[in-house]
Amino acid sequence: MSRLPWIQSKWLEPARGNDEIESLLGRGGMGVVYKALHISLDRPVAHNIGRSQGMLQMKIASLKEHKEFTSALAKWHYDEWSYLHDVDSVERRISEFENEWGSDEIPQTFVAVEGDVLVGSASLLSHDMDTRMDLSPWLASVYVPVECRKKGFGSALVRHVVKEACKRGYRTLYLYTPGREDFYVRLGWSLIERTEYHGHNVSIMTINTE
Ligand SMILES: CC(C)(COP(=O)(O)OP(=O)(O)OC[C@H]1O[C@@H](n2cnc3c(N)ncnc32)[C@H](O)[C@@H]1OP(=O)(O)O)[C@@H](O)C(=O)NCCC(=O)NCCS
Repeated sequence: MSRLPWIQSKWLEPARGNDEIESLLGRGGMGVVYKALHISLDRPVAHNIGRSQGMLQMKIASLKEHKEFTSALAKWHYDEWSYLHDVDSVERRISEFENEWGSDEIPQTFVAVEGDVLVGSASLLSHDMDTRMDLSPWLASVYVPVECRKKGFGSALVRHVVKEACKRGYRTLYLYTPGREDFYVRLGWSLIERTEYHGHNVSIMTINTE
């Protein structure tokens, strides 16, 4: 049982590097316990950082604050999605990232970093489908490397871009996905339509950012 009586047992979750810490609850032999927002479950949990555990915390920042990751990110994105583009290369993707750095306007790419390791990305773009220029803006390029998946990083990146769109005054956000409709439904997104894009089946989805 918790020594902090008001922590409900249903809050207790294993310590994870991707919770958003809200406040300190207590210190003791068990280490340090924080009240945290569990990113995937979207509810408060008690986050125990034991004495033997490192203090690594995942943070999401603009790629322009972590330019050292630009080439690696361009390569990930190219390997994952080049089949959806007629003209594509790692170099083209690097130069698109570099074009974002002169302004705070969209497009903007965000990276998830744990310690000094790149663990994912997501972008906020004006347009992402040349067949749906009527819709804007878009969540795009949500990517987490295989070895870092199922730890909540992808969900945290999606939520970060939704909040970022809201802060910028966009009430509605769109995305298309070739195969992860289920992942986005669990994060509150709704299907608009299933269609074919560059010869592949994709789902177009939307969310109210407020
Ligand atoms: C889709 C993608 C971004 C998800 O990234 P992720 O970091 O694994 O995402 P999360 O960890 O937040 O969630 C993934 C699943 O792990 C589960 N999960 C999260 N934390 C977990 C944990 N500690 N233990 C077990 N499962 C966990 C989530 O509930 C979620 O379940 P679901 O897939 O059934 O919805 C990633 O698989 C990826 O980059 N795929 C290739 C590119 C891609 O498909 N991008 C998106 C569509 S365009």
